[in-house]
Amino acid sequence: MDIFDKLRVEEGALGQHSHLPKDYFMFPKLEGEIAPRMRFNGKEVLTWSLNNYLGLANHPEIRKVDAQAAADWGLAYPMGARMMSGNSVHHIELEERLAEFIDKEAVMLLNYGYQGVLSIIDAVVDRKDVIVYDAESHACIIDGVRLHMGKRFVFPHNNIENLEKQLQRAEKITEETQGGILVITEGVFGMSGNMGKLREIVALKEKYQFRLLVDDAHGFGTMGETGAGTGEKLGVQDDIDIYFSTFAKSMASIGAFVGGVKPIVDYLRYTMRSQIFAKTLPMPLVIGAIKRLELLKTRPELKNNLWKIVNALQSGLKEHGFDIGTTQSPVTPVLFHGGIGEGANMAMDLRENYNIFCSMVIYPVVPKDVIMLRLIPTAVHTLEDVSETIKAFAAVKHKLDTGVYKREEIIAVTK
Ligand SMILES: Cc1ncc(COP(=O)(O)O)c(C=O)c1O
Repeated sequence: MDIFDKLRVEEGALGQHSHLPKDYFMFPKLEGEIAPRMRFNGKEVLTWSLNNYLGLANHPEIRKVDAQAAADWGLAYPMGARMMSGNSVHHIELEERLAEFIDKEAVMLLNYGYQGVLSIIDAVVDRKDVIVYDAESHACIIDGVRLHMGKRFVFPHNNIENLEKQLQRAEKITEETQGGILVITEGVFGMSGNMGKLREIVALKEKYQFRLLVDDAHGFGTMGETGAGTGEKLGVQDDIDIYFSTFAKSMASIGAFVGGVKPIVDYLRYTMRSQIFAKTLPMPLVIGAIKRLELLKTRPELKNNLWKIVNALQSGLKEHGFDIGTTQSPVTPVLFHGGIGEGANMAMDLRENYNIFCSMVIYPVVPKDVIMLRLIPTAVHTLEDVSETIKAFAAVKHKLDTGVYKREEIIAVTK
């Protein structure tokens, strides 16, 4: 059989929606400067779908440093993988600053979070070890777990009772194999906005021997007194054995890092295949990250603004009777009952007639009869943006409830 014949028939979980209007739901083109107001499909929209939590993406000081670093260094330097020829004093400086900020002995930079997480997992466990992980984990964790040659047990999202059962199963196996246990969860889950139950997980260390890896992609910069993340917020930073975050969210850039005690971070430097066999972060990203970290540390107003918007949006939505699930973070899912077609009509109506751009999350991420519109507030949104959005949501919810969106095919609905 020709493999391509199969691919033409089986389009994949997301590809099956490729008949939807081109570059509309999938691969939409948001144009203009990164800001709450951007252009989509020929007109201005209020955007709630960028993980630019602190508004750093287009901060004038950041833009200046990014541009200067690109002019000074270009995008090539340093060439090669970090271990071979891709190191610099600035890479080391950024690692030291990050380690100090997240209160870990050492930090290693990673050239993208996705490969980073996958590769951390790959480096830490071998076939004798057992992985226990949260069912709502990000794809990079799931794919890291897939690489694992030993046993892996999943616990229902944030279900500590079940986690304990999985730890007991894991212990039985490691007693035989003489291996260890790695528990993996997230600081803030990117879809529900829930925090991982880190305190409860850490408490289980009294009864079971395991190491804890936390992916804090959405928590770094948004959670905790200083913005150092969910471990800081919950007072368990010391008990997170391997702390990971990406530059793709609060830092509004590319790259990521992993922190922990020095011998383990050093082990990772010599072992992580995604770093040994791939190019290092180019200098503008490193120098840009140093500047971003400086603003993150010295401008508390950025995080305060973010939370002002988060609180206004989430309490406003709740007051208007919307279901925002169980979020404990800036991630704001708004949940409705309805099919994919209705959801698409509603999201389209929001974009076309209310100028609100947000992402629609569909099955299999949510059940088939649930529509999730996910809002990501940022420090650069305003309270007016919030009230405009709640008004628009009230209007489309009324249409959903009265069956306006129950159409066979997806078409723009007019006011
Ligand atoms: C929880 C989580 N982990 C890891 C990643 C991957 O990070 P990156 O975009 O740096 O590859 C993301 C998304 O960006 C994420 O949401």
